[in-house]
Amino acid sequence: MSCKIPVETVVPLTAESPSGNNIVTFFSNASGEVGYTVAHNDKVVIDSSYLSFDFKGMDPLGSGLKISNSSSKSVTETWEMPWGEQRKVKNNFNELTIDLTEQEGLERKLTVIFRVYDDGLGFRYHFPNQPNMKEVIITDENTQFNLTGDHKVWWMPGDWDIYEHLYNETKFSEIDAISKRNHPNLAQTHIPKNAVNTPVTMKTEDGLYLSFHEANLTDYSGMTIKVDPATFGMESELVGSEITGYKVKRNTPFNTPWRTIQIADRAGDLIESKLIVNLNDPNKLGDVSWFKPTKYVGIWWEMHLGKSSWDMASGKHGATTENAKAFIDFAAANNIGAMLVEGWNTGWEHWIGFEDREGVFDFVTPYPDYNLEEVIKYGKAKNVNIIMHHETSAAPRTYEQQLDTAYKLMENLGIHAVKTGYVGKIIPKGEYHHGQWMVNHYRKVLETAAKHKVAVNAHEPIKPTGIRRTLPNAIAREGLRGQEFNAWASDGGNPPSHLPTVAFTRMLAGPIDYTPGIFNIKLDPWKEDNQVNTTLAQQLALYVVIYGPVQMAADLPEYYKGHEALQFIRDVGVDWEESKVLNGEIGDYVTIARREKSTHKWFIGSITDENPRELTLDLSFLDNGQSYTATIYGDAADAHWDDNPTAYEITTKTVTSKDKLNLKLAPGGGAAISLVPAGK
Ligand code: NOJ
Ligand code: CA
Repeated sequence: MSCKIPVETVVPLTAESPSGNNIVTFFSNASGEVGYTVAHNDKVVIDSSYLSFDFKGMDPLGSGLKISNSSSKSVTETWEMPWGEQRKVKNNFNELTIDLTEQEGLERKLTVIFRVYDDGLGFRYHFPNQPNMKEVIITDENTQFNLTGDHKVWWMPGDWDIYEHLYNETKFSEIDAISKRNHPNLAQTHIPKNAVNTPVTMKTEDGLYLSFHEANLTDYSGMTIKVDPATFGMESELVGSEITGYKVKRNTPFNTPWRTIQIADRAGDLIESKLIVNLNDPNKLGDVSWFKPTKYVGIWWEMHLGKSSWDMASGKHGATTENAKAFIDFAAANNIGAMLVEGWNTGWEHWIGFEDREGVFDFVTPYPDYNLEEVIKYGKAKNVNIIMHHETSAAPRTYEQQLDTAYKLMENLGIHAVKTGYVGKIIPKGEYHHGQWMVNHYRKVLETAAKHKVAVNAHEPIKPTGIRRTLPNAIAREGLRGQEFNAWASDGGNPPSHLPTVAFTRMLAGPIDYTPGIFNIKLDPWKEDNQVNTTLAQQLALYVVIYGPVQMAADLPEYYKGHEALQFIRDVGVDWEESKVLNGEIGDYVTIARREKSTHKWFIGSITDENPRELTLDLSFLDNGQSYTATIYGDAADAHWDDNPTAYEITTKTVTSKDKLNLKLAPGGGAAISLVPAGK
């Protein structure tokens, strides 16, 4: 193995993954600088990468260090997800802990902990309690991730305020985040450096896949990764604050989030990897059966289309009692368990474009044409739960003042889910969506919600980092360019390659609220200049491909009524016993099969970018000896995302685990398949 550990290395320490495919080597050199390398199947994938911190009011920490102690342990356990892509999760790693002490001066101590898995690794810093380091004000965390070549990278700019960018596919040396400033369709954006947001995913020349992210982001600021295109160098760049001038403030002892590197020989293995949740603490909430994964409809898409509006003053208010009842009727008739209502509360007259958004939204007072209690009663009678909506307009102080009353109201009304939103620049100005102050705000909301038995689907969120394991009321998030961009973005909406990229990037972080299921693809007569850039069959496939425990049937009921393809939305599961990625290449296509929890039904979703594709699916994952009725909702022969998006066909066959299924996906197309065991 040709590890490029610096020659002057004094002490190398290694940790291997359980199968030995990944090896981390920790080193310290003659100057007491410390770092690590990573090898996969005996090949270096992360070259010598140093670790250090800069502080306010204290010397940097990262040289003159000596290894004062080191220890290892192995863990094998299996835990259960209360809801998720799979029920059982195996957590199997070898851990290496290295205690470092400065040899001179303040004699500060720092511990680095590596956990090495077969699907990658995580490492974090522990700042122990110590006399000469009580309060720690971090101005920079300098964690390097140095690459070994000019990999192909799927990246978005390291925006401190939003993740709603398209992914770019370029060589590492061509990453240029600065060119992504001033996007016309973002209510807030701040890209200070040539950095990328995580997860950022790569493919090496040897065909190896790498994805960089973080796990358990708690009381710390989000990490972007600064790139040096010339040297293939990468280094953590924490989100800052112009108010405080620093990145993170903590008191010892504390842990940083895990810095994670997923490593896979097959692109699909990145999706199957559970590294991010495994690096989080076990469930702290216990029984969360008050939240049930669900499909939902909502008074929502009609606002994005301009058919109605959130505010009442416009004269076309969407959230009326009558409209809500009509949605409940539609949901009840179609096996859809919940309904979201946006624009139900006062304040929307002062939403977009207002500088002073503090004190504007009221999270307990409905508009006069919306009778909250009556709607809830009506929903209960028909088994349709209401999903509450809180648009904070990025005024978290106003929201925090009302948190207890707002969540008490939900608890009293028996509402167990809320969608939150943070559109606009954070007030106070100078704080950013992904900084420590907001990370703590989002956490406070989750914790308050948990006390009141409410699950949170956050939009304009902090990225998921696996907190759902610890707080399983963190159900889904936006944190990507969602379907809504197709309704109004002036840049043509989400291109056909968007979701085949999202599956291997954003989706590695956690569940997504993408809001699929648009049947009126061209959006006429509402938005003549906009459209969805997929076929209708792909919209169905998204229920399986893009994972989330809440899945919206986003279109207006009038476009579903009488439509044969609605049957797939009625049938498809939302909570899974197991998931398998059958094939896929980043940005091109992906096929995922998921088995519904507690039934033996399988569902398959397959999506492609702008290129048509023929795929053969090996069904050997089905139960042996069992025959299944496969209903395939596929693209018609002449379907095309732009020219003929709604041409689909439904075919039925009987299949067993010995069969192979041939799929033809149209440009921008997809296929959605349900597999129902015969006799069940
Ligand atoms: C942005 C969210 O992403 C969108 O779904 C919501 O409708 C608006 N904010 C209003 O809250
Ligand atoms: Ca959004």
